[in-house]
Amino acid sequence: MNRTPHAPSGEPNPLRVLSPADLRRRTSMKWRTHPADVLPLWVAEMDVPQPEPVVRAVTDALALGDTGYPVGTAYAEALAAFAAKRWGWDGLAVERTALVPDVMLGAVEMLKLVTGPGDPVIVSPPVYPPFFQFVTHMDRRVVRAPLGADLRLDLGALDEAFRRAVAGGGRAAYLLCSPQNPTGTVHTAAELAAVAELADRHGVRVVADEIHAPLVAAGADFVPYLSVPGGERGLSLMSASKGWNLAGLKAALAVAGPEAAADLARLPAEAADGASHLGVIAHTAALRDAGPWLDALLAGLDDNRRLLAGLLAEHLPAIRCRPGRATYLAWLDCRALGLGDDPAQVFLERGRVALSSGPPFGEGGAGHARLNLGTSPELLTEAVRRMTEAVR
Ligand SMILES: Cc1ncc(COP(=O)(O)O)c(C=O)c1O
Repeated sequence: MNRTPHAPSGEPNPLRVLSPADLRRRTSMKWRTHPADVLPLWVAEMDVPQPEPVVRAVTDALALGDTGYPVGTAYAEALAAFAAKRWGWDGLAVERTALVPDVMLGAVEMLKLVTGPGDPVIVSPPVYPPFFQFVTHMDRRVVRAPLGADLRLDLGALDEAFRRAVAGGGRAAYLLCSPQNPTGTVHTAAELAAVAELADRHGVRVVADEIHAPLVAAGADFVPYLSVPGGERGLSLMSASKGWNLAGLKAALAVAGPEAAADLARLPAEAADGASHLGVIAHTAALRDAGPWLDALLAGLDDNRRLLAGLLAEHLPAIRCRPGRATYLAWLDCRALGLGDDPAQVFLERGRVALSSGPPFGEGGAGHARLNLGTSPELLTEAVRRMTEAVR
């Protein structure tokens, strides 16, 4: 592992700690799906070591054999304190939370509470592809209200989609992605309040996937959906999974607004099964004790955003990249390169660099690719070199 200069928070930039040799020893999806000559900047895993408080909490538990079933409210209390400190929101009530295995399974459970089989679920593409798959798998119908050309929520499209969704008489829900994966769009308080107003007007329930909420750059404000006027009837899913790269340690929280408390109370106890006790310990330690590490990460991600913009301007000016202010993902509009619907495939085959393909993100995905900025500046630079070679 490299030792690197410290970020303003006093922590080293976590994106600069692990060497390529360290990363190649990993066994999870990002570094093991493709052959060793491929540089992987695709699935949402970050090339960071764990913060010391998380390592200590999990290894202490292992040493103690504290490896049973989860119980208690420590995770929810840590999230409530984090929300108050980071987002100035003191409305996250521990008694209106429920442990769920992960964010997507939590979203499925929330959608089951407010819709029935065959009912419509509205989504705003381009969006995290499992939104389509999980909704279909749970026997709901996907209704699409794409983002506008500016990659922001299109309130007119939402109005129309909500109207269409309820026209058949079923119960409808809007699965909001906030901040938005893959664009990194941070929805404003005004936009979210407008969503709540539209949802109330049409009788649509809102389920907000807020997994990327900790990953909002300094100067851009994350606004919890449940905190906006009209958000009281909302349900949210949160976790430390993306912010601290804890996907392998399963545990997430469902959070209800005051007027959705009765819905959350109907969640069957078995919905929490699958959350891991070690996951709860890790997520709690991250939220409670690893704020400085997160600050160093956010500074490193901002550096990477600037680095990517500079590299693309110099070597691949035909790619349009409007980096959002959240997530560690960059959404690349490659249409001017003329590489067809799936430029990631071309970058992989000709450049040996793996990005995520755009088309599975839905409308607006064709001709696009998603690049994972959660890596070192050196590997990011190498990725753009390979992409440049691929289209030379
Ligand atoms: C928007 C969004 N939701 C959910 C997930 C998956 O979270 P989990 O593993 O907790 O289901 C991801 C992972 O990248 C994501 O980007």
